[in-house]
Amino acid sequence: MSSLTDLGPFSLVHPLLQTTAFFVGLTAVYVIMQTLHSRKPNLFSLDTDKGVKTHMTLGVIYVSVLLFGFLIGPVAMALAGITPFRTLHSYVGIAIAGLVVAGGSLGLHLSRGAEHVRFIHMTIQLTSLTLLALQAAIGIIFLLAQQ
Ligand code: HEM
Ligand code: HEM
Repeated sequence: MSSLTDLGPFSLVHPLLQTTAFFVGLTAVYVIMQTLHSRKPNLFSLDTDKGVKTHMTLGVIYVSVLLFGFLIGPVAMALAGITPFRTLHSYVGIAIAGLVVAGGSLGLHLSRGAEHVRFIHMTIQLTSLTLLALQAAIGIIFLLAQQ
């Protein structure tokens, strides 16, 4: 085997997981912005406590799905008979995985009162989300190139 198409639907598990993570991440940002920075009553009628808890739950799902998906990508490559970790997509992937682990840990720190990490938590997580959008484009080109 030396093509992803030989894997059948399994080759789509990784892209689908990472796309799901992207939308969960966007929702986490939406919820925290509505909770902390909106003057109008928010869409979900969440009070501050519930809003922050919902943000953290979505954040944990974002980080977990991304890291699980990060494992599946190279596994699929190896099963297809292609040596993993040789592409731009894999290097950007390593950067994203590092960012979400750092951003998630800072988020937990922030939830325990470490106010000074607020800005860096936000910056790291928004950077991970931006890179993820770029990664999706690179990943789709990659998938098409394997057809
Ligand atoms: C929506 C976004 C993404 C799409 C469409 C996508 C697409 C792909 C595709 C088609 C492959 C080939 C293997 C397979 O089909 O299972 C792949 C491999 C891989 N992906 Fe993604 N991916 C995305 C996001 C990510 C993210 C966020 C990460 C890291 C956190 C990541 C890390 C990897 C790695 C490490 C590989 C193995 C590549 C290699 O070893 O050269 N991908 N991706
Ligand atoms: C393990 C995952 C996460 C945890 C534990 C976490 C935790 C937190 C906490 C405790 C706050 C402060 C809320 C308050 O003021 O009481 C916060 C704010 C914020 N988080 Fe997260 N978060 C996580 C993931 C994410 C993700 C995935 C993103 C974006 C993709 C994100 C973006 C933000 C933003 C933009 C703020 C608002 C900062 C501000 O305007 O002051 N977080 N987070």
